[in-house]
Amino acid sequence: MRKKVIAGNWKMYKDVNESIEFVKELVLKQNNIPDNTDVIICVPFTSLFSVNQILKDSKIKLGAQNMYYEDQGAYTGEISPLMLKSTGCKYVILGHSERRTYFGETDDIVNKKVKKAIEKDLTPIMCIGETLQERESGITNQIVEKQVRGGLNGLSPEEISKIIIAYEPVWAIGTGKTATPAQAQDVHKFIRDLISKISNDKVASNLIIQYGGSMKPENAKELLSQPDIDGGLIGGACLKVDSFYGIITA
Ligand code: 13P
Repeated sequence: MRKKVIAGNWKMYKDVNESIEFVKELVLKQNNIPDNTDVIICVPFTSLFSVNQILKDSKIKLGAQNMYYEDQGAYTGEISPLMLKSTGCKYVILGHSERRTYFGETDDIVNKKVKKAIEKDLTPIMCIGETLQERESGITNQIVEKQVRGGLNGLSPEEISKIIIAYEPVWAIGTGKTATPAQAQDVHKFIRDLISKISNDKVASNLIIQYGGSMKPENAKELLSQPDIDGGLIGGACLKVDSFYGIITA
């Protein structure tokens, strides 16, 4: 039985003080987290260390939103997996559609990052998803397949068993338009079957596949009750403690 994994992605919101305030409140209410549920928050780099001081003895886990695929070196402005680990961070979002769209990340770059994260014992949350135009052209599954195969290229089944996949249809991110539970379930099932082909049935049936894109307390329960939807990657609705818990308790 897979558990539910609810992750918040703050994106480029909250400075250090705002982060600390928010996380203190989150921890105060952590008894609301159901037993079968993991909660992760992925904060800006600048807040990782301070937030970890508050989260380290709590039930809530810490993640980052990106990293570079080298251990160290002359890469001005980049952050390495070892640096993330030194803050106490355990998870890292990779290949978010905003990284792909605004910062030119390709499947090949995402693949290098996923491999490096696993090598350094960070759990990658690898994001994939089609644009509106791709959905309307009927090529959603082809796009998703290309991103999954590209991002996981060269990984062994054992390595694939260490990742989380987040299906985030680009047209649903920050738009208020959510995929219907049936639309999301179809793609999640497609991803699980694909993972079975590129690794094996056991890895596929244990894999956590999150849905992301305008998830909120009002629609979370129905999405999360689909057989292949194992959690959510939440943007806007994770920026307020109450709405984040509204999803966690759904
Ligand atoms: P929204 O929940 O704001 O649509 O964002 C989803 C997302 O991009 C999470 O990574």
